[in-house]
Amino acid sequence: MSCLCITGADIREFGAKMSGPPLVPMIHMIEAAAKPVVAAIEGVALGGGLELALSCHYRIAHSKARLGLPEVTLGLLPGAGGTQRLPRLIGVPAALELITTGRHVTAAEALQLGIVDEVTDQNAVDAAVKFAQSVEGKSLDARRIGTFPCPRPPDLDAVFEKVMKEVRRSARGAIAPVTCVQAVHAAVTLPYAKGMERERELFSTLFTSGQARALQYYFFAQRAVSRWSTPSGARWDTSKPRPVRKAAVIGLGTMGRGISVSLAQAGFSVVAVETQEKQLLEAKQAVSGMLERDAKRRGAPLAHGNIKYSCSLKAAADVDLVIEAVFEDMALKKAIFRQLSAICKPGTFLCSNTSALDIDELASQTQSPELVVGMHFFAPAHVMKLLEVVYGPRSSPEAVATAMQMGKKIGKVSVAVGNCRGFVGNRMLKPYLEQAFFLLEEGATPEQVDQVLEEFGFPMGVFKVSDLSGLDVGWKVRKADGLVVPDSTGKSARIQGGRRYSPLGDLLCEQGRFGQKTGRGWYQYDKPGGRVAKSDPWLHRFLEEYRARHGLVARRIDQQEVLERCLYALINEGFQILQDGIAAGPEDIDVIYVLGYGWPRHRGGPMFFADMVGLDKVLDRLERYHQLHPDVPGLKPCSLLRKLAAGGCPPIHRWREVIQKPHSQL
Ligand code: NAI
Repeated sequence: MSCLCITGADIREFGAKMSGPPLVPMIHMIEAAAKPVVAAIEGVALGGGLELALSCHYRIAHSKARLGLPEVTLGLLPGAGGTQRLPRLIGVPAALELITTGRHVTAAEALQLGIVDEVTDQNAVDAAVKFAQSVEGKSLDARRIGTFPCPRPPDLDAVFEKVMKEVRRSARGAIAPVTCVQAVHAAVTLPYAKGMERERELFSTLFTSGQARALQYYFFAQRAVSRWSTPSGARWDTSKPRPVRKAAVIGLGTMGRGISVSLAQAGFSVVAVETQEKQLLEAKQAVSGMLERDAKRRGAPLAHGNIKYSCSLKAAADVDLVIEAVFEDMALKKAIFRQLSAICKPGTFLCSNTSALDIDELASQTQSPELVVGMHFFAPAHVMKLLEVVYGPRSSPEAVATAMQMGKKIGKVSVAVGNCRGFVGNRMLKPYLEQAFFLLEEGATPEQVDQVLEEFGFPMGVFKVSDLSGLDVGWKVRKADGLVVPDSTGKSARIQGGRRYSPLGDLLCEQGRFGQKTGRGWYQYDKPGGRVAKSDPWLHRFLEEYRARHGLVARRIDQQEVLERCLYALINEGFQILQDGIAAGPEDIDVIYVLGYGWPRHRGGPMFFADMVGLDKVLDRLERYHQLHPDVPGLKPCSLLRKLAAGGCPPIHRWREVIQKPHSQL
């Protein structure tokens, strides 16, 4: 009897030459063994670990074990027979679902699916030994999965056509899920040995694809962001978080409700505050509904009891941490921070969910500015995985560490970012949106711009997203910034402060077109609150009249220009953010964009994308566009980008060296 320990591949090896015994010959050797081989599965059997277990004649799993073939999430497919054995063992539909999503299953589900033969609460190795003894002498003919015929659905073509259509739709340009379907198709249509050959070919195509590189980069980027640091020298490994048991949420609108749900579900005691009785009651019902739906979906216990509702800020007196989520109004937020500073016990962390306002200005209203940080959630706050933790110049390392840990406890990926208008995510969005507006002025349509961005992999184009979140949000901000003013001829000004400005969004808002909520925006909807965007002839006429009024001649704009102007302007701002020290590294920006803004994961994030395209090429295109549009500062290449390009375009993992040495000649 011998024991073997295996967890899966070390994905750090993917970029280099892999070490260790090749898995496929080993798998064939195990399967062909004359003696019964029983896999004892404890902890996780993912990827290669499960593929190895599938070559064993029996599988025994501990009840806490988790199993899966997650290769697809790294841009690959299970390349050691997983795509050939799993459908033979559990049937094509179940195997397709697991392989194309990379979903992990519990031991109980694995038993139900037929992946394992027995689940034990005892030591899995002991159980496996016992099991091996019980099957001693039995024939292994029916236990070698590679020799099974693959079950063939009667309507094979229809099944695969349907799956392929669904996978293509949800993959949004990612090639790995589609390739996984092709590999499983081979399992059904080819003999085992040929199927294995096909799996190997398909694996090699994915292995050398840019998408696998992007997904593997992203995998590590998500881990890298937890090792945060700030320009003042505070770091994740030297800053200790303080325990938080009780937290308050102030303002129970869209965001406050979702934040309260997240906190309650993670087991925090929550004090939820609204000013008016009526709003409080509405919020209470909404939060209860959200908790109930979520508990049902997850099969988890209800967390109602964790939340106490109040109309008074005084209810926050004994909490450890407050998250303010009232209207985006500096005067109102300042007043609340002043009051909280007087009401809360000493040492309470005061956090704001503001999407763009100055955290330090809020901190200045309090007696202990070092306890103030931003905790910027994304809507819907109980669903979206991202949290930007914003440190001001006076935020203590302990406050940053506490907010970062709090984010982790409620299941978010927290990214520490510096304090500036819009922080990282929203700051980069501005030049992107601006380019989209300019493209409309020059001859594009919202449909055309959105189509290009969706083909790139965004779930929704910029104009559909605007309609969804409400055009009035940005309008209010622009009005507060004094941008919404007519020029000397009475027309809406197209130059503000010496730079190009597009008033198109303001003009739509003046018409009451706020997007989905009013049933009209950049598109039309069947009713206010409608979700299906339809092209609107009114909008096209409006654009034509607008161009005519301002003497603009529409030109044909190709896909490449749409993509480059939108994305490169966004990326350029990303370089500026790195140069300003607002984000510590490109990974922080990329995680924010993938988790918060729908950037396609298989493209790694905007900064990784720039690296893939080539920094010299991005620089060259930005220079060209800036020459054509000198009044658009967002197109002027950032000096960090120039420096990196001049230094021979070092790979993304070396950018930090250049950023940290401001005078480096590279
Ligand atoms: P909202 O308008 O839905 O909710 C604000 C709530 O605050 C309202 O229920 C209001 O009654 C309440 N409120 C106002 N004054 C109050 C006071 N003195 N005490 C207690 N409650 C008070 O706004 P939303 O969208 O939830 O935004 C809240 C904050 O979150 C803003 O700072 C916004 O910029 C930020 N944010 C919004 C996102 C979004 O997508 N809606 C995303 C990320 C951040």
